[in-house]
This record gives sequence, C-alpha cells and structure tokens, in this order.
Amino acid sequence: MKEQMQGLRESSVKAILACQSIEELEALRVKYLGKKGELTAILKQMGKLSAEERPVMGQLANQLRAEVEGALEKRKEELGREMMEKKLVDEAIDVTLPGVKQTVGHKHPMYNVLDQIKDIFIGMGFDIVDGPEVELAEYNFTKLNIEESHPSRDWTDTFYFTEDAKILLRTQTSPMQIHAMESRELPIRIIAPGRVYRKDEVDATHSPMFHQIEGMVIDKGITMADLKATLNLVVEKIYGEGTVTRFRPHHFPFTEPSCEMDIQCHKCGGKGCPTCKGEGWIEVLGAGMVHPKVLSGCGIDPDEYSGWAFGMGLERLAMGEYKISDLRLIFENDVRFLEQF
Ligand code: DAH
Repeated sequence: MKEQMQGLRESSVKAILACQSIEELEALRVKYLGKKGELTAILKQMGKLSAEERPVMGQLANQLRAEVEGALEKRKEELGREMMEKKLVDEAIDVTLPGVKQTVGHKHPMYNVLDQIKDIFIGMGFDIVDGPEVELAEYNFTKLNIEESHPSRDWTDTFYFTEDAKILLRTQTSPMQIHAMESRELPIRIIAPGRVYRKDEVDATHSPMFHQIEGMVIDKGITMADLKATLNLVVEKIYGEGTVTRFRPHHFPFTEPSCEMDIQCHKCGGKGCPTCKGEGWIEVLGAGMVHPKVLSGCGIDPDEYSGWAFGMGLERLAMGEYKISDLRLIFENDVRFLEQF
C-alpha cells in the first residue's frame, strides 16, 4: 500500500505539473481524489491491514491527499496567472501605431438650403411630401389646366417614355399639388421638394435635371394676402429681416391670378450689381391662387375652398445664397468645391 501511495504521489504530481488548463486540472482532481478515484481505491484495501498498521497508513493517506490538493491548488494559481499573461500579450494594443483617420463628409450646399426651407415650413405646420418623378401627362399637364397645345408639352422640351405622350419625366413639381388634393384631407398645407427634368442643354444656368420646391395651402378663406405674408416671412428667414420682395403679375395656367416674386438684391440692396445682373432684383419663384378649374378637377368646391401655390428652383436659391456662379458645380460634386461650404 505504501508503494501504491508513493506511486500515486509521483504520478499525480507529474500530471498536475504538466496540466495546461483549469478543466484538465479538475479532471485530475476527480481522477486522484474523487469518490471513485485512485486514492479511494487504495484506501479500500485498509481492511486487510493489521490494527497497528491502519493508523499509520491512514496518516500517510491524509498526508498524500493534502499534498495532491496542495499541488492542484498551486497549479491552478499558476495557470490563472499564465492565462492572464497570455491574454495581455494577445490583446496588447500598440498605441504608438498611426490610426486610420475617419473622414467625415458634410452636407451638400443645396441640401443645406433645402433643410433650412423645410425647417421654416415645418415650423408653420406644413407637411413635407414626396411624389413620383415618372409621371402621367394627366398630372403633369392636364389636371393643372395646361392645354394640349401648350409649348411645355412639346417633345423638344419634355422627356416622354411613350409614343402616345402619356408618361413622362415630370417637368415641374406642380403635379404634387394634384396628388395632394386627391389624397389628403382638407385643409392642406404641404411643400414638395424634388427633381424635375427638361430637355435643356447643360450650361452655367441650365441642366436637364434640377430641383424645385412646390408649396400649397388649401383652406377656407385663403387669399393672396396669405400667400404674400407666408412668402415674405420665408424670405426674411432665409435672407435676413427686412429683405424686400415684390410680386409681379405673370401667367401660369394653374393659378389665377398668378405672379412672380422677386427679392431685392441682398448683395447691392437694389442698386444693381453682378449678382442681380444690374437689375437690383432677383427672381425667386412663381406663385398664385390655385385656379378654380384645378380645384374642382380634384373634387374640391372652389366656392367653399381656395388656396395658394408656389414653385421655386432650388439650385438657383443655393447659388444665390452661396454665391455660386455656375450651376454645373452643384452637380459635379467635386470635393474641392463641396469642401468650401
Ligand atoms: N411649375 C412652375 C414652373 O415650373 C412654377 C410655379 C408657378 C409653381 C406658379 C406654382 C405656381 O405652384 O403657382 O415654372
């Protein structure tokens, strides 16, 4: 028995020292000291011993158990330390290595202006709506009271998809007026920004694709005074308090009366300069009172309801605000240009 215990002592200590993980160590503990372990197996032979030998062996067995337990505990501590050291080495970060610089882009100047306008109208209780760029001629023209012979319907001006000229790329955001009147509850207060398309050659002031913002209010008792007051307020928010506007009579098929709004040049105060091309005024938008025919075509009684609408070019506005001289710069998206804003 003594030899067996000596054998167990040697083999267990060797195995424990060679052990490489906490799990293995636990398995060794069970193997040597567990209820069905090797030490227990040896102790089962105690019955065969004489009465004098038994306490001696018992003591030896206790000593052995204590030794194996001690060895297990010591190895456990060592393994814990080794694992921590390994983890520290594996996860070491070299803080002296140069980092990867994150380049954060920023908003396009035109979208700055758009967001500014959206904020102003949201503050006045307007909804911002979105609609199709591929549109029916019915909505782009007919329901807006634009007659069949109107020049803007010409194939040389408009991108049509079909020979029958029924489907097209919208030439203006005004069809959004119709969509809103057909789908919304009254009263209506909307702005509808978006892309529009016309067959124009690219130059400093033209592009076959550009952006407009449509605005419309329909309610009981709406007058031209509401249109002027609202637009004056928007202009003052964008160009500063006291900015002077003027409303010139004009013609649009879908509004009656119609007008164009100019702002007094914010650069020269109306004296005439390169920004306003010597005019003292800058044309900003077209507007008017929604034509009774357009209202009734959308199922709204023009005797009960009235409304105003406007449409403005967004690029033009951004060019004015940021003193951008060429429309092409807005679309080319050269970062050297964009970074200036
Ligand atoms: N849609 C017109 C255009 O593209 C602009 C316009 C004028 C819109 C008068 C309106 C309006 O809503 O009332 O030239």
